[in-house]
Amino acid sequence: MHYFLMLLMTISCSHHRDQNSANVHMHKTSHDQLLSHFEDPKRDIWQKPDLVVKRISPLRGLEVIDIGVGSGYFSKYLLHAGARVTGADVDEKFLEHCRKRFNNTEYPYFTTLKIDYHDPKMKNSFYDMAFTSNTYHHIENRVSYLKKVKAGLRLAGRVVILDFKKNSDSKTHFGPPQSMRLSVDTVVSELKQAGFDKISVYRGDFVDHYLVIATK
Ligand SMILES: C[S@@+](CC[C@H](N)C(=O)[O-])C[C@H]1O[C@@H](n2cnc3c(N)ncnc32)[C@H](O)[C@@H]1O
Repeated sequence: MHYFLMLLMTISCSHHRDQNSANVHMHKTSHDQLLSHFEDPKRDIWQKPDLVVKRISPLRGLEVIDIGVGSGYFSKYLLHAGARVTGADVDEKFLEHCRKRFNNTEYPYFTTLKIDYHDPKMKNSFYDMAFTSNTYHHIENRVSYLKKVKAGLRLAGRVVILDFKKNSDSKTHFGPPQSMRLSVDTVVSELKQAGFDKISVYRGDFVDHYLVIATK
């Protein structure tokens, strides 16, 4: 019995060795269901994608990596605002979905990139912006991760972190449990530890979210 439990723990730990609790939680839901949650038309009301784009504009001609692209919900808005977008994810199924959604004929400025849980695989000094939506809390060792993001940004490039407020009273029924969320103070502190010092925070704009923008 003891041996059986040890074996079970080893198998489950190795399966999730690259995943934090937010990923384990998210993958209790199937990919198809996740895709329909991410693309729920009601999401536009509380996610306010147009306001997010307004806060980070102008985007025309910018090289943007959308880290944790998922269904491509935000990539669509970034592309329509004129950015050249790399949809990056650790999950091949989401990347495959995005390749079909943003096919080369309609979206010549969209490409995908398979990344690691601990490395966004950004080319050095290549991107104008690293955008993440509802993904930052999925990342472990975030200061070390942000240092890699910083290395992939051009001078004056920006990292954009949109994520769920901790202890928000919202009733959206979307998003991770409170225990998995990160406070905006944690995000700002981690950005500073990674060497970003020009940081803007927008939290009044959204009910459930904060938007943090840091410049290299
Ligand atoms: C909650 S979804 C958000 C998807 C999309 N950004 C959106 O706002 O709809 C989180 C995404 O992050 C990806 N992800 C999880 N861990 C990651 C990591 N360490 N690095 C990059 N992406 C990760 C997941 O595969 C998933 O696509």
